[in-house]
Amino acid sequence: MKVGGAPFRTIWLADDGETVEIIDQTRLPHAFTTLRLESVDHAARAIRDMEVRGAPLIGAAAAYGVALAMRADTSNEALDRACEKLAATRPTAINLRWALDDMRGVLISLKPGQRCDAAYWRAAGICDEDVAINRAIGENGLKLISDVWRRTGATVNLLTHCNAGWLATVDWGTATAPIYMAHDAGIPVHVWVDETRPRNQGASLTAWELGQHGVDHTVIVDNAGGHLMQHGQVDLLITGTDRTTATGDVCNKIGTYLKALAAHDNGVPFYVGLPGPTIDWTLSDGRDIPIEQRDTAEVTEISGLAGDGKVRTVTLTPDGSAAANFAFDVTPARLVTGLITERGIAPASRDGLLALYPERAASA
Ligand code: MRU
Repeated sequence: MKVGGAPFRTIWLADDGETVEIIDQTRLPHAFTTLRLESVDHAARAIRDMEVRGAPLIGAAAAYGVALAMRADTSNEALDRACEKLAATRPTAINLRWALDDMRGVLISLKPGQRCDAAYWRAAGICDEDVAINRAIGENGLKLISDVWRRTGATVNLLTHCNAGWLATVDWGTATAPIYMAHDAGIPVHVWVDETRPRNQGASLTAWELGQHGVDHTVIVDNAGGHLMQHGQVDLLITGTDRTTATGDVCNKIGTYLKALAAHDNGVPFYVGLPGPTIDWTLSDGRDIPIEQRDTAEVTEISGLAGDGKVRTVTLTPDGSAAANFAFDVTPARLVTGLITERGIAPASRDGLLALYPERAASA
């Protein structure tokens, strides 16, 4: 996608062919800066501290993290250490484990002397595949938006939660890919953007990237969605996912479940942009998905641009109040209208997913 008119991905190889560059997402929307990752430790820190975040991008960053590790040491021990270190950064998004398994599978069968080049090659492949997957999700989801437009002849109002935009992937986004394609096709769209406390990925990231692309949008507090749905102001919800079970239970940013309940109560379709690598074929019950708990300071404090042009952090809560910070929740399959994958739109069920991914029948 474009930033200030220039095309960008969220992660790329620097001119030296070895260092990895990322957009520092902790500085957006107030500053657009890039960071260089020079080592596996650096890559692990970038994922843990959410300089890169979003399930597909975490996977891509982990893949490059393995490549950076191979730059220093191509032994079996170094490969295992790198995979372990990167896997420990964030527990919920399955793409992380998927990318590490993929990288290890490719590298372990090679002689140590071949591993460094192969690691960079495969990491680049994972990035390119993510872009292709998201583009296909966009094409498949576009039909949903154009159907609403053809039916109503009016601006299509969408609601999204968190950031499942291009910043959460290598490019295009999952939930946003159909929106960008609809906008580019001349369909009038407007997006209600949940701010997404506590880290405000909606207010800071989704709003920023939609704005960069010229997509009409309005930031709302997380609790406004139900009210808007009651008043007929949402045609379609599309969110992303960090892990979806083989039975179609969708884990995504905390608060997604409440949106799905409100959508169900109001007859608003609730769709999920789902790349194949985000499906956990080993799980049948969303309650078995590990839910990341983050630093409670994300709840008790808030940061923003102050009048003096500096980003400042202030405290919201009384001294001594306990806080809890569950980062994700699970929306049961019965509340999901459909899963927009790169292979088509599936009902949120084992049969629905297997119809699109028949090669997984043995593992599901
Ligand atoms: O904690 P984050 O910002 O990494 O969480 C991101 C989300 O929950 C996204 O909705 C999800 O990763 C899908 S990204 C296409």
